[in-house]
Amino acid sequence: MSVKKPEILYTKLFINNEFVEAASGKTFAVINPTTEEVISNVSEAGPEDVDQAVAAARSAFGNTAPWRTMDASQRGALMHKLCDLLERDMDYLVALDTLDNGKPLCETRGDVTYTIGTLRYYAGWCDKIQGNTIPCDGEFMCMTRKEPVGVVGQIIPWNYPLMMLAWKWGPALAAGCTIVLKPAELTPLSALYAAALAKEAGFPPGVVNVVPGYGTIAGQAVSHHKDIDKVAFTGSTAVGRHVMAAAAGSNLKRITMELGGKSPIVVCEDYDNLDEAAEVCHTAMFGNHGQNCCAGSRTFVQESIYSEFVKRAVKLAKERVVGDPFEEKTQQGPLVSKVQMERVLGYIKKGKSEGAKLECGGARQGSQGYFVQPTVFSNVTDDMTIAKEEIFGPVQVILKFKTLEEVIERSNNTTYGLASGILTTNINKALTYSQAIRAGACWVNCYDVALPQTPFGGYKQSGQGRELGEDGLAEYLETKTVVIKV
Ligand code: TAP
Repeated sequence: MSVKKPEILYTKLFINNEFVEAASGKTFAVINPTTEEVISNVSEAGPEDVDQAVAAARSAFGNTAPWRTMDASQRGALMHKLCDLLERDMDYLVALDTLDNGKPLCETRGDVTYTIGTLRYYAGWCDKIQGNTIPCDGEFMCMTRKEPVGVVGQIIPWNYPLMMLAWKWGPALAAGCTIVLKPAELTPLSALYAAALAKEAGFPPGVVNVVPGYGTIAGQAVSHHKDIDKVAFTGSTAVGRHVMAAAAGSNLKRITMELGGKSPIVVCEDYDNLDEAAEVCHTAMFGNHGQNCCAGSRTFVQESIYSEFVKRAVKLAKERVVGDPFEEKTQQGPLVSKVQMERVLGYIKKGKSEGAKLECGGARQGSQGYFVQPTVFSNVTDDMTIAKEEIFGPVQVILKFKTLEEVIERSNNTTYGLASGILTTNINKALTYSQAIRAGACWVNCYDVALPQTPFGGYKQSGQGRELGEDGLAEYLETKTVVIKV
C-alpha cells in the first residue's frame, strides 16, 4: 500500500478556535529529517501569544462558560467525536507524523491507533469522576468533590508527537480542564491538525489552544505563566528542572513531569527461548529508533548465555531495515534532527573510546537525512558513558551479570527510575526483581507495555506524578472538602 505525502493544511497558532498569525509575525521552518528540506514554515508563538491563549483558556474555564456547565457525559461525547474524526483522518495523520518526525509507517500507524485508544479511554471517565462521603467526628457530614485543576499548560516532545498530545489532552479534557499545548518545535504539524479536528468535533472556543514555538520562548512563557494552574511536561530531565523552578518561582502551579530514563532489561539464563529474548530486547531498544524515554537502554544478560545472546542481538540489528520512512518495509527512518543525529554519533564515539566492543553499526548511514546505523556494543561496563547517560538513539548497550542480587543493585545504580524489565521463567525471580527495582514500571517477559489503562511515570529523576490510567486522571483534579453541620 503506498501512502501519499500529505498536504500541509495548518501552520498558524490555534487560539480560541481560530488559526492566527503570531503577534510578532515570526515563523520558523519545520524540516523533513529524511531529506533535510523545509516542509513548511509555522507561526512562532511568543509570550504575547501565550498570554492570549491562556486568556482564552481561562475564559473557557469560567463558571458559566459552556465547557463548565455542560453535562460530564456530553464532555465524553465530544471526546468520542474527536476520536471519530481522528479515525476518519487516520491515513493523513500517519503520513503527517511520518513526514515531520521521520518515523516509519509501522510506527506512526501504532501511534495514531494508540492516540485514539487513549482518548477513548479517558472519554469513558468523564461521567465517572466522583468524590466520597466521609464519616467524621461531631455533628457534621463531609463530602468531597473532584474538580478540574483549571487552565493547564502542556509541553510535549517530538518523539511521539500525536501520542504525547493524547496522553496530555485525554485526562485534562476528561477532568474538565482547559488547555494551552506547546508541541515540540521539531514536530508541530499533527498537533495543529488535531486542534482543527477538536473545533470540528464541537469543543467550545478556548478549551484547547496550540502554540507552537521554541522551548526557551513559548515553553518558558507557559512554565512561568501566573495564570496557568498546572503544567504537564514531557522531555529531558535538564528542562524538567527549569519547569519545576519556574513553577516554584511563579505561582506554585502544580506540575507533573515525565523525564528521561536509562532503563534496565534483564535476561536471566533460565529464560527458555533465547531467540525470543533477543527479539524482546531488540524491540525494547530499537523501537522508535531508540528515541523513547523508556527504551530498554541497558541490556543486562547473564554470564552463561551472554555470547550467544550478543550473536543474536547483532544479527537482528544488521537485519533491521533502515531507509525511507514512507516505504512499507522500513523499520527505522532518520533520527528527528541533525542535532539528535550528532548527539547519538557522539555517544557512539565515546563508547568506542572508553573501550566497549563495537559489534555492528557505529556510523551515519548515507549522506542525506539524519540516518544512524543500528548499533550494538558488547563488553560494556557500568562506568562507561554509554551505560550511564540517555543516548536516545538506535544504540544497544549489552552488559554482563552473574547473580540476581548483583543485577538488582546495578539496575538501581542510576539517577533515573522510569522503567525496567526482566525475562525469566522463574516466578520468584520475577517477583523479587519487580519489588526491588526503583522504577515506575517493571515488565515481566515483555517490554514497554504502556497501555491507556496502566499508570506510567518515573521514580527518582525520571519524573513527578503519573500519566495514563486513573492515576493520570487524578493529576488533573483537585479535591474539595465540603463539611455540612447537621
Ligand atoms: P527537551 O529539550 O526537554 O524538550 C521537550 C519540550 O520542552 C519541547 O517542547 C521543548 O521545546 C520544550 N522546552 C525546551 N526548553 C524549555 C524550557 N526552558 N522551558 C519550557 N519548555 C522547554 O527535549 P528535546 O530537546 O526534545 O530532547 C533532548 C533530550 O531529552 C533527548 O535526547 C532525550 O534524552 C530527552 N527526551 C526525553 C523524552 C521523554 S519522553 N522522556 C522525550 C524527548 C526527549 P522545543 O522543542 O522547542 O525545544
